[in-house]
Amino acid sequence: MSSQSLYKASNFALDVLPTRLAHRIQALRNLPFIVVTNPNISKIHDNYMHSLSALMPFVDREVKTADEQQGVTDAMAGLLQRHSNTIPLIARGFLEVRNYVPTDTVTKFLDEHLRARIGTRLIAEQQLALHYASQPGATEDKASTNIGVIDTALRPADIIRDCESFVAEMVELKYGVRPFVVIDGQPDTEIAYIPTHLEYILTELLKNSFRAVAEEGNEREPIVVTIAPSPEYPSEKPLRNQDQGENGSPGVATGLGNAVPGVTIRIRDRGGGISEEHYAALWQYGFTTWTENEASDVVSSVSDPYGVIAGSGPGGSLAGLGYGLPLGRAYAEYFGGSIAVQSLFGWGTDVYLTLRGVGKT
Ligand SMILES: Nc1ncnc2c1ncn2[C@@H]1O[C@H](COP(=O)(O)OP(=O)(O)OP(=O)(O)O)[C@@H](O)[C@H]1O
Ligand SMILES: [Mg+2]
Repeated sequence: MSSQSLYKASNFALDVLPTRLAHRIQALRNLPFIVVTNPNISKIHDNYMHSLSALMPFVDREVKTADEQQGVTDAMAGLLQRHSNTIPLIARGFLEVRNYVPTDTVTKFLDEHLRARIGTRLIAEQQLALHYASQPGATEDKASTNIGVIDTALRPADIIRDCESFVAEMVELKYGVRPFVVIDGQPDTEIAYIPTHLEYILTELLKNSFRAVAEEGNEREPIVVTIAPSPEYPSEKPLRNQDQGENGSPGVATGLGNAVPGVTIRIRDRGGGISEEHYAALWQYGFTTWTENEASDVVSSVSDPYGVIAGSGPGGSLAGLGYGLPLGRAYAEYFGGSIAVQSLFGWGTDVYLTLRGVGKT
């Protein structure tokens, strides 16, 4: 991109991020006092204060020079870094105060907070990606289908294979068996999407299915992933922007094309399904059937949201936070998609992940 376009991207980020951070700080301060006094949650609050003050010097000024551009880019990198470890921190904080706050209050806060977080990170990540892709010396790959963090020709089948080997590794380590995925439908399907988002969602869904078949002793039965391209979405269907908080927090600039091809991915496992009682709690942040002693190795392997919960580090974390499904759904819904879970208790589970591409470019 030209310098002028890069400055424009930076000015956009500077336009929206301070307000977004301020809204997060306000929401944290509006939580019941006992929640805010929790060290983990107060750490989150401090991070936001820190990030907001790092952006303040750039507010109300336009980026017009290469120096200013570099300054903004450094601030974005700092912001992303500072907030990258926060999901396990948040999870631990709310776990510790769970006896003092109604579940509804927590769910409502977390849903809004984590959805807003997706958008905030995306804006910063996009600024950063565009900046670095435009530097002299950045490898100019004519075949590249990327625009910043968006891949305009992303093949879900490739991501599924990557996530499969990663998750299989974790399950093998834990249970000594290695479940596997069979892909059918139309594996050649491509969509325009953000690879890190799709990776996050698929890792979460596969972890759940792999764990279920391993615990059920059904690892010889394949986890069947069916990829079905959806017809282009008609323009009349308005995009439901989850990020638009009722307190007026700014949503992400969508600017999508009129019709965008999407995909539906069905993940079918023979892991025994989900009981009615558990099914009702599936979308609550923090709901898990992972047991206490198993959970101890989860909390100790704290890492970042694209890394940790998506499980990285030695052993990774296969389950235990109870954030995989609700946060995965938040990612899917961010661009107008969805996740639906259908359980055949005593047999297995079907998960339908529907994604809408991020627009014709
Ligand atoms: N495919 C599945 N088969 C059986 N049970 C499932 C399946 N997917 C989810 N579950 C149940 O739903 C619960 C919540 O899932 P979720 O992914 O939100 O959290 P988790 O896996 O316990 O922890 P994590 O945050 O690490 O993903 C799981 O603990 C499990 O009991
Ligand atoms: Mg999970």
